[in-house]
Amino acid sequence: MSELIKATKICRDFKQGSNIIHALSDVNISINSKTLTMLAGRSGSGKTTLMNIAGALDRPTSGKIYFDSIDLTDLSESKKDDIRRKNIGFVFQSVALISVLNAYENVEFGLRMAGVNPKYWDDLVRESLKFVGLEKRMKHKPHQLSGGEQQRVAIARAIVSRPKLIFADEPTAELDTKSGLKIVNLFRHLVDEENMTIVMTTHDPSMIELSDDVIKLEDGRVI
Ligand SMILES: Nc1ncnc2c1ncn2[C@@H]1O[C@H](COP(=O)(O)OP(=O)(O)O)[C@@H](O)[C@H]1O
Ligand SMILES: [Mg+2]
Repeated sequence: MSELIKATKICRDFKQGSNIIHALSDVNISINSKTLTMLAGRSGSGKTTLMNIAGALDRPTSGKIYFDSIDLTDLSESKKDDIRRKNIGFVFQSVALISVLNAYENVEFGLRMAGVNPKYWDDLVRESLKFVGLEKRMKHKPHQLSGGEQQRVAIARAIVSRPKLIFADEPTAELDTKSGLKIVNLFRHLVDEENMTIVMTTHDPSMIELSDDVIKLEDGRVI
C-alpha cells in the first residue's frame, strides 16, 4: 500500500474579529491509497477544514500537506487547480447538482470540468451512471429524483473522470440510513473494485463500520 495523502503538523487558524479560532492544531495524518477512510468527529471538530486542505481547496496556516508525494503547501493556485482537476473528485452534503440539467448532463459537466476529450464523454457518462445504478434515470432533472438518487448522481459526476481520490463531505447526512448505507457501499465498491481512494466525513457510527481506517477529530486535534 502506498501513501496518497500525508499531513504533518497542520494548523489552520481563522480570524474572527479580534478572536482567533484554531480549527486545526498539530494534525498529522497519513492516508493510504485504495482505502476508504472516514473522518469522524462532532460538528465543529475540523473535519471540513481538514478535507479542504487535503483537497488543495485551502492552505494550512502552518504545516505541510502532500498529495502523492507532491508538496501542495507552496504550489501556485494554477498548479493546484491542475492537480485537483486531474486527480480529485468532490462530493458535498448539499449535493449541488445543476437544477436545469438532467442527470446525464450533470455528470457530463464533471468531464467538462476535468478537461477530458469530448469524444469519450458519452461512454464515460453512461458507464458512470450505470455504476451508481441510475442509467434508467439519466433524463431526469434533480427535482425528479430522491435525495439518495441525487447524491448518487453527484457521485457519478465525481467519479466520471476517473480521479484517484474522492473527498465526500458528509455525503449521507441528509439521507435516511438505508440510502446512506447504499452510498457507503458504493464507495466500498469503488475502493475494492476500481482502486479508488475515498475519504469521507461522517458522524454516523453505522457508516464507520464499513471503513478501512478512521481518523477521529476533537476540537481540531486527532485523537
Ligand atoms: N471560514 C471560516 N471562518 C471562521 N471560522 C471557521 C471557518 N471555517 C471553519 N471555521 C471554524 O473552524 C472550526 C472547524 O470547522 P469545520 O472544519 O467546519 O468543522 P466540521 O466540518 O467538523 O463541522 C469551527 O469552530 C468553525 O466554526
Ligand atoms: Mg463539516
